[in-house]
Amino acid sequence: MLSGMAAGAGLVMIGQSRAASAAQTGTGRAWWKEAVIYEIYPRSFKDSNGDGIGDLPGILEKLPYIRDLGVDTIWLAPIFQSPNRDNGYDISDYRAIMPEFGTMDDFERLMAKASSLGIRIIMDLVVNHTSDQHPWFQKSRASKDSPYRDYYIWRDSAQGHPPNNWPSVWGGSAWAFEPETASSYLHLFSPQQPDLNWDNPAVREEVFSIMKFWLDKGVSGFRMDVITMISKMPSFRDMTPEELKAPEYVYAAGPHLHTYLREMNDRVLSHYDVMTVGEAYGMHAQDIPLFTDSARRELDMVFAFDIVHVDRQGWRKVAWPLSKLKEIYAAAGRPRSPDSWNTVFLDNHDQPRAVSRFGNDSAPFREVSAKAIGTMLLTQCGTPFIYQGEELGMTNLPFDGLDDFEDVQVPLQWDTRVKRQGVDPDAFLESLKGLGRDNARSPMQWDASRHAGFTTAEKPWYRVNPNYTEINAQDCVSNAGSVYHYFRDLIALRRKYPALIYGTYQDQDPDHSAVFFYSRQLESSKILILINMSDRGFTYDTPLLARASLLLSNMRHRGVTQDVTWLAPWEARVYRA
Ligand code: NOJ
Repeated sequence: MLSGMAAGAGLVMIGQSRAASAAQTGTGRAWWKEAVIYEIYPRSFKDSNGDGIGDLPGILEKLPYIRDLGVDTIWLAPIFQSPNRDNGYDISDYRAIMPEFGTMDDFERLMAKASSLGIRIIMDLVVNHTSDQHPWFQKSRASKDSPYRDYYIWRDSAQGHPPNNWPSVWGGSAWAFEPETASSYLHLFSPQQPDLNWDNPAVREEVFSIMKFWLDKGVSGFRMDVITMISKMPSFRDMTPEELKAPEYVYAAGPHLHTYLREMNDRVLSHYDVMTVGEAYGMHAQDIPLFTDSARRELDMVFAFDIVHVDRQGWRKVAWPLSKLKEIYAAAGRPRSPDSWNTVFLDNHDQPRAVSRFGNDSAPFREVSAKAIGTMLLTQCGTPFIYQGEELGMTNLPFDGLDDFEDVQVPLQWDTRVKRQGVDPDAFLESLKGLGRDNARSPMQWDASRHAGFTTAEKPWYRVNPNYTEINAQDCVSNAGSVYHYFRDLIALRRKYPALIYGTYQDQDPDHSAVFFYSRQLESSKILILINMSDRGFTYDTPLLARASLLLSNMRHRGVTQDVTWLAPWEARVYRA
């Protein structure tokens, strides 16, 4: 069965049947292993109609910008009808476009234009939960006899007591009481995001049919939101105090998870040449091949959370040593299964900005460190995901206080941590500034005009970072030494040297506290990557570079010589050995 890409005239044939390309999966080559994926958070990308909210025609207008960067696949965060409690991760109609973002015609125009530029589009599949405004939930909550009752997870709860002690991921109980039917429904996220009951075969049929609907429109796959949580623990027993410290690991340990993913693969995915990437929240690193080993026929890739946890302890932001990052990449570089594939990401719509977190966003170091960590992103093992604005070195937002946050999870967490658990409000706010999701959600900085050229509205839906006059796409594109051009060069290099995609990984200096020096090797082709991950310069000499030739460096102005032993702060070099 074809993926439907042929639906529009003049489209390039990106889609082809998975059967036809079977020789390229497993340990072999695959388009999604070679892809460089760019995440768009549509609300904040580009507003075309002056209502202050990004939209599909805005994305269409900027496709050439994305293509020029060298990206070949876009992940669109949810664009479906939604009351937007959680910016689209609460869907009320899976087959309709959110009116603020445009129409189905706009979507089809976007697909056709992307296809003509050789860009694939993958969508967000958010099916652990729906919005409480979804007609299924409206019918489910109306009566215990509704045929939709079992689409969700209900338990009788005497006088409103929650059926067990499960917490929502963002704080408070995971159960919401409905007096009309004297029962509570499960919501692992906000109360407006009731969890679907995947044990009900009718729910699974609905999901498969939604997937086919979009695949037949030509989308090239899905990023699957908290897909690890779809199978619930059947006993619904209380969690132990130990389990309550990280409940996501209990939520991701449902007994039927892999059965359901295999069913999804058999019924839907195996009939299309598409890619899948699951959000593996609550999953231990050693269990990841259970999803991604191609012989198991579940998912192609997952987003592991090690990198997300590197600077957190619970709610608290903590310092991260380079050794932790090295361990994460070393583990990813020796996959437990030869048939599984990784993702590499530093940034997304749930994370603070990469340069503020892993680099140094102060004036002397912002550009050079954004390039240094970009070098890491695009030369590690796995398919790289760039988040909008990362290619400009966009930074975290300044926050004055709690009112500056927009994210639905902030008041829920504040309530739990500060009001109920007595966490110091200043300390909590400080961590929130560094880790908050809103950092990533400020509008894309297109140029130095009002509201960074994101919108012509009086007010954008969310604050523009005031540094847009210095950091913006127009400036970056016209300046050959910019972060944007460096990302472009990195992407081109990745395409030129298959060792950077398919090569094995070896850390060449695991004990150094500031230098990240590793190799990627495919047969006789060996690439060496040397990065100073610190604000200090020092001498670093290694015989491994003696005969290596420099392919790329983020220090162009210093001229390129081969025997440079001085490593400037955040200097990054890629060599061919
Ligand atoms: C993960 C998504 O990335 C995040 O933005 C969302 O809030 C939760 N899942 C709930 O859908």
